[in-house]
Order: sequence, then structure tokens, then C-alpha cells
Amino acid sequence: MKRIRVRAGNQNYPIVIHSNQLRVGRIPKQLHTDGGRVILITDKTVAKFHLKSTTDRLEKMGLRAEVITVRPGERSKRPGMVVRLAQEMLAKGANRKTPVVALGGGVVGDLAGLVASLFMRGVPLVHIPTTLLAQVDSSIGGKTGVDLPEGKNLLGTFWPPLAVWTWLGYLKTLPPRRVREGLSEALKYGYIYDPPVLELATGIDPRNPLATPDALGAMVERCAAAKAEIVSRDEREGGLREILNFGHTLGHALERVMGYHQITHGEAVAIGMMLELKLSRNSGHTEPGIVEDLKERLVKLGLPHHLPDNVTIQELVDAARHDKKKTRNDFRIIGIRDVGKTEIMNFTAAELSRALSASI
Ligand SMILES: NC(=O)c1ccc[n+]([C@@H]2O[C@H](COP(=O)([O-])OP(=O)(O)OC[C@H]3O[C@@H](n4cnc5c(N)ncnc54)[C@H](O)[C@@H]3O)[C@@H](O)[C@H]2O)c1
Repeated sequence: MKRIRVRAGNQNYPIVIHSNQLRVGRIPKQLHTDGGRVILITDKTVAKFHLKSTTDRLEKMGLRAEVITVRPGERSKRPGMVVRLAQEMLAKGANRKTPVVALGGGVVGDLAGLVASLFMRGVPLVHIPTTLLAQVDSSIGGKTGVDLPEGKNLLGTFWPPLAVWTWLGYLKTLPPRRVREGLSEALKYGYIYDPPVLELATGIDPRNPLATPDALGAMVERCAAAKAEIVSRDEREGGLREILNFGHTLGHALERVMGYHQITHGEAVAIGMMLELKLSRNSGHTEPGIVEDLKERLVKLGLPHHLPDNVTIQELVDAARHDKKKTRNDFRIIGIRDVGKTEIMNFTAAELSRALSASI
């Protein structure tokens, strides 16, 4: 069992990572403020595999779950769903003391987190992440959100959970494509912050991640610790946290161009990392060999590494304009100087088009 603390404002919360069973250590007392009743939000796929065992575990902790399920997938991350969930919570008699438990991947976490932050001006939240991506990344740091037609995550809040309870066993049922998606985010941590993650991630078999439990556990712990450190030092994205965007400016743009159901977030991030790393190399600041290193790792894990033929650079740059991380005149892109060391690069739209054309 590993316990990592995340600082959020004046408070902090634990990430508890277990390989054997969903175990949580000490239960935050705020979880019992509505007599042990909690609203558990999940999606139908996660519910099929893991709802019964999870609610049984919660019951052993004295928590009685009222369950709300949403349809799986990014399409549930929309404003209308926030209203629907709030109304369902009301119908179930939830009040301002009723905690929300988010059981699922990044979609459920972002959506349930946003609802928790808004319902009666905010109720306690616990994340139980069930995808690799959510375990290494999205459940940590307190960002919540839904998408607008204009772009991803444009409506959201910062709402730190009381705790993140991570059990590696959930990954047993995760399809390989979804495991790859999490490995893509894990590689990000290797390049921006913690180099040993690269070998750990590349050694995992996406078809059976639990075949190497030690490597999987070490990788999840290191990524969670890296994210915890980064967001603890910069809760609201004023500085250091920006490095988490490596691969994401162009990755988000690609998701937007292709449609969110054509490509997974992690696949888009894999291509985004490749493109952004090439921009960084062409600016002359990157140690030799890193682009090739990333490409080899992506190939080994079965992740894509180049822009699909049917997507043009112009489409990508146009889509990136909608990215909320674009400042007024320019794009801020995270480059890599050396493994574990980042730099910020600024481009105008015209410069970005030119630089991308030159680097592909
Ligand atoms: N808040 C943040 O800081 C942050 C960071 C990164 C990504 N995100 C967001 O996370 C989302 C992507 O997250 P995701 O990839 O976890 O997507 P997801 O939640 O859609 O899960 C992917 C699929 O896996 C299924 N699934 C989940 N757990 C399973 C399990 N244990 N077994 C079998 N199937 C399972 C889900 O039903 C879904 O169909 C995006 O919306 C992205 O914007 C948020």
C-alpha cells in the first residue's frame, strides 16, 4: 500500500494506492456526515464489472451508496448532464452534506467532480479511479469539467477530493486500448518530470497490465506522486502545472478535429507529444535522440505516433486556437530539453503552422 499526500490550498488529501484490494486506510469523517449515505456516480460499463464489489466494500466502511449511472464515454461530459445528475441527486434526497463518490475513468471523475462542486454550493467528493489514465492522472489535482461544442473542458471548477482511493485490480477488465491510453499519459510524466517512469511504462503489456504487478504498481505510484508534487506546488495552474500540458495542446486539437469518439484522449496525446517534441527539437534546444526514443516507446506500446493522413496542419492549428491554454496572441507549447526537463515555447498561429510543416 502506498499513501501520497496532495496539498490543496490550506488542506491536503491522500491518494491511497493498493494492489490487493480496495482498501482506504482511515476514512475521512466528512464521508459520514449524511449518516453514511453517499451518492455514487459511475458509468454503465464500470457498473457492470465493478459496482457490486465496490458497494460491498463501501458498506464494510459504513457507507451506503445510492447509485446514479451515466452512459460511458466523452459524450456524457456535457453541461446538460450536470443538471440531470443534480436533479437525480435531489430526487434521491441528497442534501448539502451528502458526499459524492466518483467510480470510473476520467469522464466520470470530471463530471462527478463538477457536480460535487456545484451541488448546493459544494459537497464532499471521493475519487475511485478505474482506468489507468484516471489512476495516474485525472483523479489527482482537483480539476473538474465538461465539454462545450467549442472545445473540451471549457466549463469546470477546481474541487479537490477528500481522498483518492486507487485499486490496481480494477484494471483487470480494462480493454487494451484504454490501458494504452493510460500508458501514454504515463510516458508524459517520464518526459516532463520523472525519467524512470519511461522504462516502467514501456515494460507493461497493454493486453495484460497485471502480468507485471510490480512494474504496474511502481509506475502508478510514481506518476501519482509526480502529479501530486506538481499540483501541490501549483494548484491553480499559474506556473509549474503548465508542464502537464506536454502533448496536450496539439493532442486536444487533434481530438477536436477527429471527433472525440474516433480517437482516444491518450492516442491524441501520444501524437501530440510526438509533434510537440519535434517542434522542440527543431527549435534546437532538445538533446539528440529523444524524438526517436519516444517513437520507439509508442511503437512498442501500440500507440500512434504521426498525424493521421486525413488531418491537415491547418485544421490542427485552427482547432488549437480554441484551446483554452492559448494566450491572446500565441500558443504556449511545452518542449522537452532533456528527459525530465521542460521548456516553454511560444508561437503565433502562422509560426506554429510553419514549424509544424517543417517538422513533419
Ligand atoms: N481532470 C483532469 O485533470 C484530467 C486529466 C486528464 C484527462 N482528463 C479527462 O479524462 C477523460 C478521459 O478519461 P478516461 O480515458 O479514463 O475515459 P473514460 O472515463 O471514458 O473511460 C474509458 C472507457 O473505459 C471504461 N472503463 C472505465 N473503467 C473500466 C474498467 N475498470 N474496466 C472496463 N472498462 C472500464 C469506461 O466505461 C469508458 O468506456 C477525458 O475526458 C479527459 O479530458 C481529466
